[in-house]
Amino acid sequence: MSAIIGLPAGYTILGLETSCDETAAAIVRDGSTIISNVVASQIDAHQRYGGIVPEVASRQHILSIVPVIEQAIKALPEGWQGIHAVAATYGPGLSGALLTGLNTAKAIAWQRDLPFIGVNHLEAHIYANWLTLDPSIQPPQFPLVALIVSGGHTLLVLLRQHGDYQLLGQTRDDAAGEAFDKVARMLGLGFPGGPAIQRAADGVQSRFTLPRAWLRDTYDFSFSGLKTAVLHKVQEHYGNMGPPNTSAAGRVPGTGPVAGNSLSFTAQMSAAFQESVVDVLTSKTVLAAQTFGATEILLAGGVAANTRLRSELTRRANLPVRYPPIWLCTDNAAMVAAAAYYRFRTGLQHSWELDVVPGLPLPI
Ligand code: KG4
Ligand code: ZN
Repeated sequence: MSAIIGLPAGYTILGLETSCDETAAAIVRDGSTIISNVVASQIDAHQRYGGIVPEVASRQHILSIVPVIEQAIKALPEGWQGIHAVAATYGPGLSGALLTGLNTAKAIAWQRDLPFIGVNHLEAHIYANWLTLDPSIQPPQFPLVALIVSGGHTLLVLLRQHGDYQLLGQTRDDAAGEAFDKVARMLGLGFPGGPAIQRAADGVQSRFTLPRAWLRDTYDFSFSGLKTAVLHKVQEHYGNMGPPNTSAAGRVPGTGPVAGNSLSFTAQMSAAFQESVVDVLTSKTVLAAQTFGATEILLAGGVAANTRLRSELTRRANLPVRYPPIWLCTDNAAMVAAAAYYRFRTGLQHSWELDVVPGLPLPI
């Protein structure tokens, strides 16, 4: 582990994030204070396809990146003069999408003669927990156990220090967010599925119990069996055609032609599915935190926005559970700038040779 390098107070990083379907730029001071955080969502462009189309994402990033950066810079009274380093996500993610943010960051850093830091997207999600609008809040203290749950990943990680990580477990098939998205589609709830399932399940005590893949004696996860179990229930209920009026864009629960029994089936299935995912994620995270003597549990990634996961983890853990505000759980560039700050302090800096790494693991 390298020593921590001191940086002058007020050190300000421009972060860029284009790994998936959000074009984002943010300015963060001292690794924690958000000066600006601009996110251009592409959800409308992908919704009609029921999922993310890589070519559409690449094109949208190219169209949005410059206006998004310009808007982020406007928040700095000293403008570009106030930027001390530039960072961008270089993986994991969609290669065409990553290229836009990475090359833009390199071009800015080269032109302005600034340090350039490539950031691991998964690490960035964890560092959303260092961002705060209130300087009196203490940053997390190591050792920490972090559960990273997003559309593409499900990982349990032990953090001993900044940049010193141990992978404890990960999904063997679908990511948690991917399972939410696929199940939402089966139920005709549309994309993105996580928020739709959470809304449908809100306050519902399900009459169904769905399976949990415990994969005993490991910290690994599996959600494909659960997904298949939902599919079988949907087929039993509706026949092989699936729920009526299922379009890629889906329908809003409580509206449309499906009413009464079918609507309650959607809500019941959503609640049972959510309970199953939350139960497994929570049990393994709490066990890992106890086993490795963590001082806190950090929750990160898009699925960390799930209120049932937040409340159940907080209820079952006998140590503090920290999670970012919902707007910092899903993809954003403030988390990229925060991660870059702490990794730069451990001596990490990249050359112009750094390329995108779509399958970048954590730890690197
Ligand atoms: O981290 P993220 O923005 O993008 C990736 O890096 O993948 O995560 C997106 C994922 C999607 O699968 C979405 O359905 C899920 O996060 N998500 C949720 C919630 N909000 C977003 N899943 C469950 N409950 C939510 N409230
Ligand atoms: Zn993400």
